[in-house]
Amino acid sequence: MADIKIHIQNPDLSFSTLEAPTDMGLSLMEILKGNDYDILATCGGMALCATCHVEVLQGFDALPPITDDEYAMLDTLPNITPTSRLSCQLKLNEQMDNIKVKIWGDGH
Ligand code: FES
Repeated sequence: MADIKIHIQNPDLSFSTLEAPTDMGLSLMEILKGNDYDILATCGGMALCATCHVEVLQGFDALPPITDDEYAMLDTLPNITPTSRLSCQLKLNEQMDNIKVKIWGDGH
């Protein structure tokens, strides 16, 4: 299965690109954390901490639907955006090729 590309916005607004496999059951959070991005993910991907918050700048409509649990956690954030997601809830798949994200983390 082909790898997908994920574009991550840097603080200077340029983008870095990661290549990620879609056949290993990894979440976006796991790929970002594995590549040393600033994501705490303190709950380990249980949709309980919101420190894996990302804003999806491109490709939001291609993502799997948001669950009630994910929304409830996002809704606690002061910096929620219309295209916010918890990256731990996004299992990588081919529809996510070339999405662009901005990492908010826990907003601090
Ligand atoms: S890692 Fe905790 S909510 Fe995603």
